[in-house]
Amino acid sequence: MSRSRPSARSAADQRLVDHVDRLGAEHPPISLDSVDFTVVDPVGFEARFGHVLDYMARVELEVDRNVLELMTMLPDPPEVDVHFYRDVWQPQEIQHGRILDELQVRLGRPPADADLDSIGTKLKVLGALGHASAFQDVSRMLYYLTGMATERSAVLAYNLLHDGVREMGEQAVAETIIAPIKRQEPGHFAFYQLSARGLWAELAPWQKWLVRHLRRLSFSPVGANDDEQLADFGDLMATLGIDDSSDFTAQIARVEMELLWARDKGLPVPAYVTAAFREARERSRARAEGVSSGTR
Ligand SMILES: [Fe+2]
Ligand SMILES: [Fe+2]
Repeated sequence: MSRSRPSARSAADQRLVDHVDRLGAEHPPISLDSVDFTVVDPVGFEARFGHVLDYMARVELEVDRNVLELMTMLPDPPEVDVHFYRDVWQPQEIQHGRILDELQVRLGRPPADADLDSIGTKLKVLGALGHASAFQDVSRMLYYLTGMATERSAVLAYNLLHDGVREMGEQAVAETIIAPIKRQEPGHFAFYQLSARGLWAELAPWQKWLVRHLRRLSFSPVGANDDEQLADFGDLMATLGIDDSSDFTAQIARVEMELLWARDKGLPVPAYVTAAFREARERSRARAEGVSSGTR
């Protein structure tokens, strides 16, 4: 809701509130009781997808840190954003994380090493600037862009994982874990997309310029916060068959491309997105070569 017009909720704001209410009503957090952890071939399954489960579990569990980041970045968030992250998003994501983590532990792996509470300096600076509402709108826009790319990545990655798990004949995991999780992600994407489109239309040219600039500097693939995690993401890309020129990057950046870079005709994907995905694969390959030459 716009703070400058507290009494009149626009049609777009109302649509967002309705969307969040519907998500809450139609998608309760997945209960552990509904999950069947049966795995037919635990050794083969762990060897192929164990690291993917670990990556996804970590990213999902880190929702708790994301909420702290959000409160740092946006000291005065719109009501509907709070409603979304507190009542819908956090409760759903934390269950995704717990279930995937439980699955990997049952396969004999250590639990995910999730970072639940460190807040980077970059965000603290954005938070400090955010006390001026013109800057807070820039931070909010960056938050929505990250949300869109993250949730779209989750939808696509869970689709690929679901196919691979079914192909291995692991029906229980595919049907009672991956399928229910992947059904909850598109609603998150829709929230960020509606929010991003609404806010972008309200930003002044200098704010748009700053958003483009900061986004180019700060983009990273979902859950990759350092070089090691970027290499982990590269491993995930390899297992799920994602490459840096694939449809995957075009899909995660489609709305971002349209909003921020419409004037750069001819490029399907912002160059910083392609570059980040390429770097993830390079780091993953370099690490694998380092490990194999080190043991020779
Ligand atoms: Fe999730
Ligand atoms: Fe999500």
